[in-house]
This record gives sequence, structure tokens and C-alpha cells, in this order.
Amino acid sequence: MDWSLLLFNAFSYILPAYVCNSAAALYGGKKPLDLGKKWKGRRILGNGKTFRGTFFGFVFGVVTAALIGIVLDNVYFYLPLGVLLITGALVGDTVSSFFKRRAGLKRGRSVPLLDQWDFVFGAAIFGSVMFIPSLETFVFLLIVTPVIHLSLNAVSYLLKMKAVPW
Ligand code: CTP
Ligand code: MG
Repeated sequence: MDWSLLLFNAFSYILPAYVCNSAAALYGGKKPLDLGKKWKGRRILGNGKTFRGTFFGFVFGVVTAALIGIVLDNVYFYLPLGVLLITGALVGDTVSSFFKRRAGLKRGRSVPLLDQWDFVFGAAIFGSVMFIPSLETFVFLLIVTPVIHLSLNAVSYLLKMKAVPW
């Protein structure tokens, strides 16, 4: 297996979704997407899905996709693919919050793997309109994403940007 090629294929593909997800977490706050509304006594999405987070996630994701396109000299491929990936990432993350609320879980309650895979699956499904990564690349991303996610959370905790280390 060519590890450097695998790393390159995996990260040049998923980076806009990673940046989108991190930017949403960094800038999220204020007005929730569900406007505080409830369905059957429970919040539709909860306070963890906001207009600000979604907006900044999208903007930073688009910028990342454009930069990847410029660096790899293929903007006409990476920019539209990036837009699909980040739209899917945001939708995947939101759908997962919807199901967490239906299961009665409070906002921020962790569900291992679902929390780290929701946006990867969302990104891959939307992105598949334009490009489908190899199975090897996708499996690699499913393995490394939770590891990267947990490491970033630990760093954010140490920098006092997050209340809990996970
Ligand atoms: N965020 C946001 N808007 C989004 C996605 C994320 O504002 N569309 C921000 C919120 O501040 C959220 C943080 O990013 O708290 C982390 O996102 P996530 O882990 O998905 O949300 P949780 O707070 O864990 O909520 P949930 O239980 O719904 O997953
Ligand atoms: Mg989530």
C-alpha cells in the first residue's frame, strides 16, 4: 500500500469538510436553526446547530476548497466538489442532531462514532454526485477521523476553548 498516496487522496478530498466542521464549532452560537422549537416535547435540533455555525462552516469550507483547487491546479474540480462535501457535512451533522434529540439525548451528549462519522458520511453522500473515493480511502477516513477529532478536542480543552476534553 502506498501510504503517502493514501494520505494525499484522503486529505485533499475531506479537508473542506473537516474545516467546515471545525469552523462551525469555533463560531457557533446564538440563534439556533430550529429557532428553539420543539416537536413532541423535545427540541427539533437543539442549541448545538446555529445559523452562525452553519454560515461560518460553509464560508471557511468554500475557502478551503478553493485553496485546494488552486494549489492542486484544478479549481473547477475541487471547488464544486468542496461545496457538495461541506453541504453534505452540515446536513449529516444536523440530521444526526435530529436523531439524537428524538432519542432524548441532550445537546452535547456524546455518541461515540456517530458524532465523528455523521459529517463524513454526509459529505461522501453529497460529494458522490461528482466523485466517489476508493473504498480504501473511505475506510481510512472512517478510522482516522475519530482519532483526529478526539485529539483536536483535547487540544481545545487544554486551550480552555472547550468545557470537556472529548
Ligand atoms: N455548531 C453550530 N452549527 C452547526 C454545527 C455546529 O453552531 N451547524 C456549533 C455549536 O456551537 C455546537 C458545536 O459547533 O455546539 C459542536 O457541534 P456538534 O458537536 O455537532 O454539536 P453538539 O453541541 O455536540 O450538539 P449535538 O448533541 O446536537 O450533536
Ligand atoms: Mg455532531
